[in-house]
Amino acid sequence: MSAIATVHVPLGERAYDIKIGPGLLNHAGAQIRPLLARSRVAVITDETVAKLHLATLRDGLAADGIDMVSLALPPGEATKSWACLGQAVEWLLENRVERWDVVIALGGGVIGDLAGFAAAILRRGVRFVQIPTTLLAQVDSSVGGKTGINSPLGKNLIGAFHQPGLVLADTAVLGTLTARDFLSGYGEVVKYGLLGDAAFFTWLEKVGPDLAAGDMAARIEAVRRSCQMKADIVVRDETEQGDRALLNLGHTFGHALEAATGYSDRLLHGEGVAVGCALAFEVSAKMGLCAQEDPSRVRAHLRDMGMKVDLADISGDLPDADGLLDLMGQDKKVMDGQLRFILARGIGDAFLTADVPRDIVRSVLAEAQAMQK
Ligand code: GLY
Repeated sequence: MSAIATVHVPLGERAYDIKIGPGLLNHAGAQIRPLLARSRVAVITDETVAKLHLATLRDGLAADGIDMVSLALPPGEATKSWACLGQAVEWLLENRVERWDVVIALGGGVIGDLAGFAAAILRRGVRFVQIPTTLLAQVDSSVGGKTGINSPLGKNLIGAFHQPGLVLADTAVLGTLTARDFLSGYGEVVKYGLLGDAAFFTWLEKVGPDLAAGDMAARIEAVRRSCQMKADIVVRDETEQGDRALLNLGHTFGHALEAATGYSDRLLHGEGVAVGCALAFEVSAKMGLCAQEDPSRVRAHLRDMGMKVDLADISGDLPDADGLLDLMGQDKKVMDGQLRFILARGIGDAFLTADVPRDIVRSVLAEAQAMQK
């Protein structure tokens, strides 16, 4: 196997490794073996990922004498539901998954969140391994132990913190993503540079296009650095009492835009985060917190990468500035009715604040809307 990077997440008795590199699926058995009490695992995946990667995982486990049973759920956000959670948990029980067994989540964020939550509540908690197959899942959702499903009242409102026992981020698998899905995940990669590492952002400005074109060394380094930054934050604040909220840079705007577009194909999650990061920098500049050039630099990089940057890049109509502000009122960071934002003092220097005049947010949104016309 070629070079594999490892990021350790030092969470005491919940500590685990994130392994990053091409070919990890083929060697999954050797990686997972140390966690197993017996040579059998239960894999939860979706139908799309199953067609692409389940046979490779089966062979990779069999190479180390490990049997697997698998459940493929429908792809898509609608799978993060009580119905699919119930189906997954009953299936795990029918397949006699015991307290000391390991559940594997093979897929993107939807499968990682759902299978992780199923593992969290099965027999009061069994261990699980994340094998994320999208860039977004490799750099964000598979790390840090957030698991859960959606409620009709909002996304991710039901869930548990349940850390995986191991994360295997096979970077060769990223080659099967569409360019749009890859770039959507890249929105979360850029977010890490913007929130806490200016040198990483500068590096992305340089290598981003090569990375998107398939440069494996650049992909491994981008996933490694993102996971290291996430691990550092999660170790400081595992259950999001403070610093972990920084990971939501761009998400207050992004979630409002996702809600406005009905969580549809019009705007993928990472696309909303990228547009949201640009807007968060606009607000920061308008408040005199960061240099006027910073938002332009953020937008220039997103443009270079061929990503959505402005509201005009989102197809169809959007609510007006007040409509978007109302949607932000549903944000999970709202505390006692007060909107809280992640803003920036510069590239790589984000902070959480409730001290954001509504009029400034409204005017940034109104200006962005005017550009759309
Ligand atoms: N995706 C944000 C977090 O894990 O906290």
